[in-house]
Amino acid sequence: MCGIIGAIHTKGNVASLLRQSLKRLEYRGYDSSGIATAANGILHIKKDKGKIDDIHQRLNFDTLPGNIGIGHTRWATHGSPSKANAHPHTDCLNRLAVVHNGIIENYQELRKNLMENGHQLRSETDTEVIPHLIEDALHQTSRLDQAVAQILPQLEGSYAIVVIEAHRNELVAARQESPLIIGLGNQGVYCASDVPAFLPMTRKTIVLEDDELVLLTAQGALLSRFNQSGDLSHLSLRLPTVVQWTIDMAQKGGYPHFMLKEIHEQPKALQDTLRIRKPDLMGFTEILHNHRHIITFAAGTAFHATLAAKYMFSHNANRLIHNIIASEGPDTVAASPGEDSVVLAVSQSGETIDTIHAVKHLKKQGCTVVAITNTVGSSITRLADQVLYTQAGPEIGVAATKTFATQLATLASLSVYLGTMTGALKKKEQKELLEALNQFPNIIQSVIRNQESMIKVAAQEYVTKSDFFFLGRGISTATAMEGALKIKEIAYVHAEGYPAGESKHGAIALVEPGFPVIFVAPNDSTRRHLEGNVMEMKARGARIVAICSAQDKALINLSDQVIPLPQLPSLSFSPICYVVPLQLLAYYAAILRGHNPDQPRNLAKAVTVL
Ligand code: F6R
Repeated sequence: MCGIIGAIHTKGNVASLLRQSLKRLEYRGYDSSGIATAANGILHIKKDKGKIDDIHQRLNFDTLPGNIGIGHTRWATHGSPSKANAHPHTDCLNRLAVVHNGIIENYQELRKNLMENGHQLRSETDTEVIPHLIEDALHQTSRLDQAVAQILPQLEGSYAIVVIEAHRNELVAARQESPLIIGLGNQGVYCASDVPAFLPMTRKTIVLEDDELVLLTAQGALLSRFNQSGDLSHLSLRLPTVVQWTIDMAQKGGYPHFMLKEIHEQPKALQDTLRIRKPDLMGFTEILHNHRHIITFAAGTAFHATLAAKYMFSHNANRLIHNIIASEGPDTVAASPGEDSVVLAVSQSGETIDTIHAVKHLKKQGCTVVAITNTVGSSITRLADQVLYTQAGPEIGVAATKTFATQLATLASLSVYLGTMTGALKKKEQKELLEALNQFPNIIQSVIRNQESMIKVAAQEYVTKSDFFFLGRGISTATAMEGALKIKEIAYVHAEGYPAGESKHGAIALVEPGFPVIFVAPNDSTRRHLEGNVMEMKARGARIVAICSAQDKALINLSDQVIPLPQLPSLSFSPICYVVPLQLLAYYAAILRGHNPDQPRNLAKAVTVL
């Protein structure tokens, strides 16, 4: 996946604005980047492999002339990270430049046709076919928006594109499945993959929908719908939404990394999320209640949230749910599960293609779809019959932290409402559980305040360790798996998150003296059996680290190291609290190993490839 931006700046050159916008989109990919501007009938382009700041130091983006331009930061899919494959891509005459986020699945075929017709393609990317197709279309029409609309039916796959032409003071942007948002400011107009790109310039946004194309000029935006015949029909411009995020929220706010800032933002993110309107929760819960089967689809961290939900739904609502990893979805549910099934999709970005494909697969078979996401206007929201939004704000660090907490809180609320509907919970129990849930923002605040420096020191002890186990039972299996994922993805340490009871069936063979085993051990109904698993590991010389209640003297005595946590008002929501030390441990492990936790290698914030 990539980040794209297009801008027309009415007060002077646009290049430096584009560069800074790309910096705010760098979380979407950082293999290469580039900017193209149009001035005096000529396209000016600078692009290269590497991160924006490094390229800027070498090439100085800011000297590009003109008040209109496009920019791109890339996460490589088709073609290795290189200067030739960096966007923007141009036509044969260097008159047109295009930036693209998404994948053109039939590009090989289009490329072959173009080359047979004399076009010269210079990269290995799928994107490069687009400017060449537009180049041909401009022989049929003099209007750039019409030329773009004409070629779009030929593109199979997903795209958000922005196009400029050397002689014109206009940008043309279109989308199909990949996000694109228009920004309308006092000193310019913008379109980008995400709002932080133009947040310093404007808060007024309009989300472009699938099959929509926008023509941006200094005067504003002209919105149209395109069809499969390549025709445009004019649409009246929707009223802009005023985004409440401040620039500060989208930037680091004084923390060395976004990830640390976002860990610290969890109490607020939770508080905001727990304010979801009751009617919205009730409507969503009713849909779950009215279906015989609840199938969850999610990837990565979001999958771990659904795994925790399995325990919450079972304990609080007496409902068993089916957790399916999104990429496995279409193959797992090959036969139609029928209309008495509801799909619950959980995705921070709302753009994870694995989740979207799995959802589409079941939607086609008549299933109802409900979604929990953090991103308004994201692709998943258009597929879902009902949506609940987590209120985490923008999460820039690639590793999900505050969005995990807010997904858990949303699922926890749902489990309680569902429990009342199924009769598993009495009114009084519902009230007590919701009151307990509302205490979590303060509890987490105190965990961060009291434990962060201890965890920072603890992380030093493990700098040289290359393998970890994270073990838990019951709902803590989800927490353990999330802890392992965090340390793997940002500290590049091999870690396995496992159900503690299962570890003796194989994984334990790896344990030798000093092997660190981190037990996620709240004092819930699994605690007694967990002690047996601690003893098994201890007997093999493992170094036992317990994340447990400060009151749990027995486990504290058995452990080599302890991260003590406060008593929780309800143990059925324990992952919300118990994951926090694991996030901090991963963060400090990454720092000690010299890695940038915000931009782990080979990863991107939203994964839009299958
Ligand atoms: C891990 C992480 C990923 C995402 C996964 C799903 O820290 O961020 O595992 O959780 O790619 O992303 P969303 O929730 O956007 O669908």
